[in-house]
Amino acid sequence: MARFIVLIEAVVLAFLVAAPVPEVAAKKYLVGDKKFWNPNVDYTTWAKGKHFYLGDWLYFVYYRDQYNILEVNKTDYERCISDHPIRNYTHCCGRDIVPLNVTKQYYLLDGRGGCFHGMKLTVTVENPPPPPKSAPVKRH
Ligand SMILES: *[C@@H]1O[C@H](CO)[C@@H](O)[C@H](O)[C@H]1NC(C)=O
Ligand SMILES: *[C@@H]1O[C@H](CO)[C@@H](O)[C@H](O)[C@H]1NC(C)=O
Ligand SMILES: *[C@@H]1O[C@H](CO)[C@@H](O)[C@H](O)[C@H]1NC(C)=O
Repeated sequence: MARFIVLIEAVVLAFLVAAPVPEVAAKKYLVGDKKFWNPNVDYTTWAKGKHFYLGDWLYFVYYRDQYNILEVNKTDYERCISDHPIRNYTHCCGRDIVPLNVTKQYYLLDGRGGCFHGMKLTVTVENPPPPPKSAPVKRH
């Protein structure tokens, strides 16, 4: 019996040591969820409580004839000025991706309507948290 328990312990230990460290997968956020990128959506509320990590994506779905997605600086964001965007994420089909590939604060707005009815979104991009600690293995 004792030998049996030792065997089980050995198996459990082997399993713990071999257990893969879970990868933190990049997330793709659909901006506004079912309301997409549209007027009269509170994007501050949408972003609240979410953590955006380096490598995540923002996915914008919108009416391509009416709106766009521009990155501006803080001043321009606060004043809804789109005359000198830092970057233009508008490509074609009303479906655009903003890769969050820099740890910084992003200021995004709709430039065609000048933040039309609240179409502005700011997110802070952080480094991903360290993966959960696996069982410490001490070697003597
Ligand atoms: C943003 O850009 C505008 C125009 O280029 C400039 O006047 C303003 O000082 C800038 N603000 C910041 C915070 O960089
Ligand atoms: C952004 O890029 C799109 C596609 O290239 C272009 O049609 C549009 O005029 C640009 N908008 C601005 C404000 O630069
Ligand atoms: C981040 O993504 C943008 C848009 O795809 C790209 O132009 C830029 O070079 C990227 N920056 C870095 C630091 O990878």
